[in-house]
Amino acid sequence: MILVTGATGHVGSELVRRLAAAGEPVRAMTRRPAKARFPVGAEAVYGDAADPESLAAAFAGVDGAFLMSAQAVGTAPEPTHDLALAAAAERAGVRRVVKLSTLDGGTDDDPIARWQRTAEAAVTDPARGFAWTLLRPGRFMSNALQWAGQLRAGDEVAIPFADRPAASIDPADLAEIAALALTTGEHAGVVHELSGPQSLTPTEELAVLGEILGRDLRVRSVPVEAARAGMSLPHSGLRSSGGTPIGFPPEVVDAIMRRTLDGDRGSEVLPTVEKVLGRPARTFAQWARAHAEEFPRP
Ligand SMILES: NC(=O)c1ccc[n+]([C@@H]2O[C@H](COP(=O)([O-])OP(=O)(O)OC[C@H]3O[C@@H](n4cnc5c(N)ncnc54)[C@H](OP(=O)(O)O)[C@@H]3O)[C@@H](O)[C@H]2O)c1
Repeated sequence: MILVTGATGHVGSELVRRLAAAGEPVRAMTRRPAKARFPVGAEAVYGDAADPESLAAAFAGVDGAFLMSAQAVGTAPEPTHDLALAAAAERAGVRRVVKLSTLDGGTDDDPIARWQRTAEAAVTDPARGFAWTLLRPGRFMSNALQWAGQLRAGDEVAIPFADRPAASIDPADLAEIAALALTTGEHAGVVHELSGPQSLTPTEELAVLGEILGRDLRVRSVPVEAARAGMSLPHSGLRSSGGTPIGFPPEVVDAIMRRTLDGDRGSEVLPTVEKVLGRPARTFAQWARAHAEEFPRP
């Protein structure tokens, strides 16, 4: 049995679909199993990483697990959700673990790096005995869905750092690699640093999306201080696809701003997807065509 956490999210939902289609026994974890829609063959299970006791039933009888956390960096002294998920997997005797991490982890001694290191160590610690695989992607193409609300009101979208390029990745590519690692075990002990096939600015991504939607979309730039306020707790207004409010404390916002303004590795085009899957990584245009229905039409 393979357990997928974050099963209603961008990566997890693709992974559940892929595993169910391949006939793999798959269990999809969510905090709202009655509301979630999963494909035939997938079993929905309740689990909340903020409530470690709820995880025992979700992990029972599982031999492979996809672990992700939606806990925003710095909103607790340490990544308690990652720690709870890894501990539950160990208690249940899970063998294979694929952990969704981030390319931003880095080696810097800032609050983001410290958080990511602790979260990754929870699965790579040899004492746990997992055959682990780490996925470290940069920006997700699905972040463009954050524009959908503004596109309902008009053709202009306020985008912070709209001219900062990134080689964003399709979550479906991550799911395909996760499925391989969970079903073949060939990626044990491997850290995959991942990106999409081209480095585009959000302005360029918006132009591609506009062409696909048949709309003339424009960027409205956001002053740096407004971008900062937009990421900060308690009123960031940011939400995960699961609807959970997210926002960061000041020291984490400082670290994000430093990485953003000084540059990070997000614009590097990495060869990993093509190497692992034997085909090119999906482009932003492919992602946008596949998700066009999630954006409002004029
Ligand atoms: N977006 C990016 O650009 C980017 C880049 C690199 C790495 N990442 C990493 O990717 C991950 C996000 O993946 P995603 O985009 O697939 O997720 P997502 O679409 O944002 O969905 C969040 C998922 O987390 C689940 N969740 C929220 N709170 C939970 C809790 N307390 N216990 C258990 N599950 C909970 C939600 O499930 P329910 O609501 O159904 O319970 C939902 O399935 C994060 O770890 C992020 O750091 C993102």
